[in-house]
Amino acid sequence: MENKHENHENREQWGSRLGFILAAAGSAIGLGNIWRFPTVVGQSGGGAFIFLYLLIIFVIGIPLMIGELTIGRRGKRNIVGAFQKIKPGGPWWFIGALGVLAGFVILSFYSVIAGWGIAYMFKFLTGQLTGLEPGQSADIFGALASSPVEPLIWHAIFMAMTIGIVIFGIDKGIERASKIMMPILFVLLFVLAIRSVTLDGAMEGVLWYITPDFSAINIQTILGALGQVFFSLSLGMGAIMTYGSYLPDEENIPSAAMFISLADIGIAILAGFIIIPAVFAFGLEPNAGPALIFITLPAVFGSMPFGNLVGALFFLLLTIAALTSAISLLEVPVAYFIDELKWNRLKASVIVGIVIFLLGIPSSLSQGLLSNNLFFGMEFLDFMDFFSSNLLLPIGGLLTAIFIGWVWGTRNTVDEIQKKGVHFGLRSPWGIIVQFVLPIVLLYILITGLIG
Ligand code: PHE
Repeated sequence: MENKHENHENREQWGSRLGFILAAAGSAIGLGNIWRFPTVVGQSGGGAFIFLYLLIIFVIGIPLMIGELTIGRRGKRNIVGAFQKIKPGGPWWFIGALGVLAGFVILSFYSVIAGWGIAYMFKFLTGQLTGLEPGQSADIFGALASSPVEPLIWHAIFMAMTIGIVIFGIDKGIERASKIMMPILFVLLFVLAIRSVTLDGAMEGVLWYITPDFSAINIQTILGALGQVFFSLSLGMGAIMTYGSYLPDEENIPSAAMFISLADIGIAILAGFIIIPAVFAFGLEPNAGPALIFITLPAVFGSMPFGNLVGALFFLLLTIAALTSAISLLEVPVAYFIDELKWNRLKASVIVGIVIFLLGIPSSLSQGLLSNNLFFGMEFLDFMDFFSSNLLLPIGGLLTAIFIGWVWGTRNTVDEIQKKGVHFGLRSPWGIIVQFVLPIVLLYILITGLIG
């Protein structure tokens, strides 16, 4: 269990099945579940969105995750190299290049938001958030996010931690920490959900959250749900593919994909049960956007015994959950620069990390100094999020499905999945989904969502 194995191509592999599952679940579970999911649900009409979200996970997300893990394991290298190895000479490396680009874009704003989380951890520890009214909590968040310097420092700290871990590889420390922290995160989320749904006036929020109002569904909501699935499951940019490249041949990929996705869904739904009822109980608007959790949660903690401690712990866990995702985001471009440009790991991690830090600065400033500079009607941070989650990732997923369905072939892919005695019972429906359903549905949603 403890030793990392090396396979015949001399590539590192996961030390244990649990290690891989936790790392992949760590990549999936992050700000996407706790920050982005409640935000998007709040902006997209509650229950109906959740229905769409689940539908898309099962029809698109899980089949694609199986495909990405399999390409990764077959390619056994960075994502650009993996496509080149499976189909030499073709243009397919371009899918990998898009993924490398997405790694830069996503991590740049991801780190800004994670930085707010670290700031909140310290604010709780130092008692600056004690006994807040919701209105005050909005002011405090506004002051932090709109300040020109403070959030950049937290952003730098978060990037430094991410770079630090990637330099030393995904080491036992993080694997072990996730094993302890992920269950604590789950328990804490559960306790908070109970507190939140029992607040005065929370029932209205619970009902809003679980009652599907299908009239709220339009092509924009569908595109939003699609982007949320890709973002939350780390799909469409090669993060899961990269993790698949360290998999041993014995691993049962379909069951791993199922487990990772179910864990991800569970945490997201639970986060919704904390945030949404609290929003209603405190008379806030559910469509507040990226600030939502930073405004509602301190008010929830304020109404609990040991609120400061619980608040600090929550934001500590949020930081850790974000960190295990950020590592996978940084690892995609880093692996590329190591393999293809022959940089060493230290140089690749530091240079890529610094570029990402710089790229994050406009996202941070868009909450204050630059809030009047809109891109396609959005603040820069929202624009970066929209551009990557709703465009780059689904396009990456579309091209990956075409690659599997029509270039490498679902037959070859299934052979790779079943190589070492694994039986993939659902291979026929999976093949039909990847070959026909995914390309058609993704293309349709992308086109109509963008022009609509
Ligand atoms: N899935 C991560 C989250 O939910 C974000 C992420 C997206 C990580 C894409 C890797 C790749 O926070």
